[in-house]
Formats: sequence, C-alpha cells, structure tokens
Amino acid sequence: MESAGIRSRSIRFSIIAIAVLLRRTARCQNTAIELPGCRAHAMDLAQFGGVGDGIASNTNAFRDAIANLSCYASDGGSMLVVPAGRWLTGPFNITASHFTLYLEENAEILASTDIDEYPIVAPLPSYGRGRDTPGGRYSNFIWGSNLTDVIITGQNGTINGQGQFWWDKFHKKELNSTRGYLLELMFSEYIVISNLTFVNSSAWNLHPIYCNNVIISGVTVLAPVDSPNTDGINPDSCSNVLIEDSFVVSGDDCIAIKSGWDEYGISFGRPSEHILIRRFSCISPDSAVIALGSEMSGGIQDVRAENIVAINSESAVRIKTGAGRGGFVRDIFVRGVTLHTMKYVFWITGNYGDHPDDKWDPEALPEITRINYSDIFAENVTMAARLEGIENDTFTDICISNVTLGLSAKPKKVQWSCALVEGQSSDVSPRACDELPEMGTPCAYPPDLMPIEHVKVGWCNSY
Ligand SMILES: *[C@@H]1O[C@H](CO)[C@@H](O)[C@H](O)[C@H]1NC(C)=O
Ligand SMILES: *[C@@H]1O[C@H](CO)[C@@H](O)[C@H](O)[C@H]1NC(C)=O
Ligand SMILES: *[C@@H]1O[C@H](CO)[C@@H](O)[C@H](O)[C@H]1NC(C)=O
Ligand SMILES: *[C@@H]1O[C@H](CO)[C@@H](O)[C@H](O)[C@H]1NC(C)=O
Ligand SMILES: *[C@@H]1O[C@H](CO)[C@@H](O)[C@H](O)[C@H]1NC(C)=O
Ligand SMILES: *[C@@H]1O[C@H](CO)[C@@H](O)[C@H](O)[C@H]1NC(C)=O
Ligand SMILES: *[C@@H]1O[C@H](CO)[C@@H](O)[C@H](O)[C@H]1NC(C)=O
Ligand SMILES: *[C@@H]1O[C@H](CO)[C@@H](O)[C@H](O)[C@H]1NC(C)=O
Ligand SMILES: *[C@@H]1O[C@H](CO)[C@@H](O)[C@H](O)[C@H]1NC(C)=O
Ligand SMILES: *[C@@H]1O[C@H](CO)[C@@H](O)[C@H](O)[C@H]1NC(C)=O
Ligand SMILES: *[C@@H]1O[C@H](CO)[C@@H](O)[C@H](O)[C@H]1NC(C)=O
Repeated sequence: MESAGIRSRSIRFSIIAIAVLLRRTARCQNTAIELPGCRAHAMDLAQFGGVGDGIASNTNAFRDAIANLSCYASDGGSMLVVPAGRWLTGPFNITASHFTLYLEENAEILASTDIDEYPIVAPLPSYGRGRDTPGGRYSNFIWGSNLTDVIITGQNGTINGQGQFWWDKFHKKELNSTRGYLLELMFSEYIVISNLTFVNSSAWNLHPIYCNNVIISGVTVLAPVDSPNTDGINPDSCSNVLIEDSFVVSGDDCIAIKSGWDEYGISFGRPSEHILIRRFSCISPDSAVIALGSEMSGGIQDVRAENIVAINSESAVRIKTGAGRGGFVRDIFVRGVTLHTMKYVFWITGNYGDHPDDKWDPEALPEITRINYSDIFAENVTMAARLEGIENDTFTDICISNVTLGLSAKPKKVQWSCALVEGQSSDVSPRACDELPEMGTPCAYPPDLMPIEHVKVGWCNSY
C-alpha cells in the first residue's frame, strides 16, 4: 500500500534534468547543483518477493529489484524502498545510476552470515592485495561501481553487517581472504549517503574509493570498540567529499582518509583531496578521530575539519606514514575541536610499517607539510603531542595555535615529544616543543567554500 502511494506521489514531482546539470558542473565547480530528491519510478522490496521477517533470504529480491530499477536511469531515475522490517540478504551490487536506496523508519537490512554467499573478488588496484591477507577479498556487502547520482538514505533505517561472525573468524585466523566492507562505492560520482545507521560492519563501514563529489550526512556508525578494523568512514582516493552531522563509535579510526598503499598507491596515483568534515563526533578508545593514512601513497591534500567533538579516543587528528609510502599530506586545516579523555591530542607518526609485500621502495619518502591546527580544547589528556618525522625527510610548516589542554591525573612527564618536525605555535598550553616556537600569530584557516559545498541534495516530499 505504502509503496504504491510513494510511487504515484513521486511521479507528480518534476524531475530535474540531472544529466545536463551534472555535465555543467563537471566544467565549473562553482555552479550550484541540486541532486534530485524524487525519482520517477519507485518500487518496494516486497514487490520483488521480499519478506522482512529477519529469517527468509532476500538475496534474489534485492538483485531482481535492482536489475529492474537499473532500466530507468535515463527515464527519471528510480528508487528502491525498503519498508519497516528485517530484510536478510547476501551481498548485492547497485548497478543503477540515478538511483535511490531508501530505508524507511525501522527498516533494517541484515547481512547474511553464510560465507558462501560472498564471492572472492579482485583486490583494489591502489592496494595490490587485500589488507588482511595477500590475494583477493570477500565481496563487499553493498557495492557499486561506475555510477552517477546514487543516494542511499532513509528515515534512519539500519544496515547491519552482523560483523561478529567475521570478527570471530578473523581473530581465529580462519579467513584466507580479506574481509569485505559494509558499503563500498568505486569509480562513481555524485554519491549521497545520509540519514542512516550502520552497525557491526565486518571491517570498514563506508568506503568511497576513486569517487568524486561524495556527501555523507546524518550518518551513525556503531560497532563495539574492540571490533577489528571497523573504521567508520574512509574516503580513499576521492575528491570533493563532505562528511557532516555524523557520529561514529567503533573499534578503529572514526574517519580515515586514505589513497592507496606503497608502490601500488604510488603507481595508481590518485590523491584524496578537497575534503570537508564538520559537526562530527567520535568515540574510539584505541584509534584516531580523524586519521590521514596510513595508506596515503597517492597523496592527501586540502582537507578541512571543523566542529569536531571526541570522547575517549586515542588521538584527535593523526598523520600516519613512513618510508615506502611516498605521496604527501599537505594543506590540512583543523579548527574547533573539543576533546574529553585523549591519549595524544596531536600525533604524527613517521615510522608506520605495514607494507603490502617486499617490493616497496625505502626511498619513497612522503612529503608532510602545511599542517594547521587551531582552537582546540581538551580535558583529561595523557600527552599533548608526539610529532615524529623521518630522517632526511623533516615534516615542515606545522602550525598549532589557541590550544588549551587539561591534563589527566597521571599525565606523561614530557608533554611534547617532537623530532624531525618544524613549524610554529601560538597560545598553546602546555607550551609546545622547541621545534614549534611561539610566534604570536594564529594558524590560518581558508575563508572560501569548498566545491562540494555547492552540491545540494534535493528533498522529496513523498518520503
Ligand atoms: C519492473 O517490475 C515491475 C513490477 O513487476 C514491472 O511492471 C516492470 O515492467 C518491470 N520493469 C522492467 C524494466 O523490467
Ligand atoms: C558485484 O560486482 C563485482 C564486480 O563486478 C562482481 O565481482 C561480483 O560478483 C558482483 N556481486 C554480485 C553479488 O553480483
Ligand atoms: C569503471 O571506471 C574505471 C575508471 O574510469 C574504468 O577503468 C573501468 O573500465 C570502468 N568499468 C566499467 C565496467 O565500466
Ligand atoms: C539514528 O539511530 C541511531 C541508532 O539507534 C541513533 O543513535 C541516532 O541518534 C538516530 N539518529 C537520529 C537522527 O535520530
Ligand atoms: C553488534 O554486535 C555486538 C557484539 O556481537 C552485539 O552485542 C550487538 O547486539 C550487535 N548490534 C546489533 C544492532 O546487532
Ligand atoms: C582456508 O584455507 C584452509 C586450508 O586450505 C581451509 O581449511 C579453510 O577452510 C579455509 N577457510 C575458509 C573460510 O575458506
Ligand atoms: C536528512 O533528514 C532530514 C529530515 O529528518 C532532512 O531534512 C535532510 O534533508 C536529510 N538529509 C539528507 C542529506 O538526506
Ligand atoms: C580559541 O579556541 C576556543 C575553542 O577552544 C574558542 O572558543 C576561542 O574563540 C578561540 N580563541 C580565539 C582567539 O580564536
Ligand atoms: C581520564 O582518563 C583516564 C585514562 O587516562 C580514564 O581512565 C579516566 O576515566 C578519565 N577520567 C574521566 C573523568 O573521564
Ligand atoms: C640520510 O642522509 C645521509 C646523508 O645523505 C645518509 O648518510 C643517511 O643514510 C640517510 N639516512 C637514511 C635513514 O636514509
Ligand atoms: C597554514 O597553512 C598555510 C597554507 O597551507 C601555510 O602556508 C602556512 O604556513 C600555515 N601556517 C600559518 C601560520 O598560516
């Protein structure tokens, strides 16, 4: 009943000539663009034989639905509605452009725990192998490639990876291939992931890779804080990414910006750039709120983060790199960060190991420069900073200003440990290391908007 209503109402909304708009903005990043809220064709999973009882398999229902809805990309686009209920399914691929996957309130997509449903697929070209093991990887749960204008959204429905199954096998070393991710989109543009909850991913939760124009908004990611590699949001070799109004609790980095691994990432050569993170909250006792790396061999540049809140995390923004990585991390701007219970507020690691194989080049040194952090308030801090560059590869132009850190009951005696780094500080308490002398000028934060801020997401009144 409800889906028929959605269908007939949504048809009445005029459809934006999206293809024309997309082509126009590809040439001019400053043109405002609005992605459509409504699609001309909407169907619900039950129309494809789906049963939302948490027991029946919906693998065929999802695949049939998406195959059907893929036919409407050039006819106003399509939407698959997942109604309230628990919809168990094996992995599925989104093959439709101009497509919306819409999870109604109390709709939950449950990942199958039948490992035979997950085919082994090729490793990512910028990684050269799976991260857990050499060779391929299990299929991602939801996957899409070479798509334009895909919106994955809803009324805070849930996508549940049922990760305990994978974590147990990973800990017991029973997996011969790398775990897949909960949602991975590659070689795609104009992607929106919003107003949803992701729980218990097998490994990383949201993984846009080789994408352009990605908005992640109003997303909650939940996983036990001791679950292995359950990173929240990992933009990887992507440009023009916005992450906002989101909250992650997980067993690994809440956000990790990446761009490929050692010689594979260097030769793939696609940076992560023009990334904005705002109004973001994180709990990650053993990892970073925002990590840059460790796989950063294609480079990371022009990243801004503001209005960040973290509770009980290991480090705020952490740059992880090492000899062999190559690439760069530069033009990073962070301001407005509130932290409670933090091991290292500032952490830059220049000796991160972990190589894909023995073919990495020890002379491939990363360039780390123009890192600006300001307006940071923290309580219950164990150590202010560990900043470690690389021999013959000093990390330069590091600026830290307006920082007030309250120390824990058992703080480290040396609050700032710095080596092979240079830069400046201003108004930092406790006082920064000699490598960052007090200069009395606050660090810059660019005043302009980023290109992704010109991309708006339409709202469909029939939701
Ligand atoms: C999609 O499914 C609907 C409902 O079964 C059907 O009417 C329509 O013809 C299908 N479209 C395509 C392109 O198969
Ligand atoms: C999804 O697409 C990938 C890449 O083309 C393919 O290897 C995999 O088998 C597809 N999975 C499903 C469930 O169709
Ligand atoms: C997807 O896009 C990539 C990069 O543009 C391209 O190399 C690849 O051939 C495309 N795949 C398909 C199936 O079109
Ligand atoms: C969405 O659901 C999650 C999990 O129940 C909850 O933590 C979050 O606050 C909800 N978000 C909104 C906007 O209601
Ligand atoms: C997530 O996994 C944990 C650990 O197995 C479990 O306790 C929890 O109930 C799961 N959450 C959901 C929403 O399934
Ligand atoms: C991994 O390989 C071993 C040895 O070949 C095999 O016994 C085991 O079943 C494999 N595990 C999986 C999950 O396929
Ligand atoms: C998220 O949901 C709110 C209403 O709860 C809506 O105003 C907003 O446009 C949605 N955002 C996106 C990006 O879908
Ligand atoms: C310093 O940072 C705090 C937040 O920690 C902010 O409220 C304050 O306005 C900043 N001061 C200046 C001079 O920018
Ligand atoms: C302060 O941090 C320590 C860990 O260093 C933690 O055990 C303690 O609970 C925190 N105190 C408060 C009040 O949060
Ligand atoms: C640093 O450069 C010096 C002089 O060129 C060289 O002797 C030394 O081995 C280099 N250190 C490393 C770790 O590459
Ligand atoms: C901040 O970033 C700019 C631009 O990357 C850089 O040139 C500068 O040295 C940094 N420090 C200050 C104080 O602006």
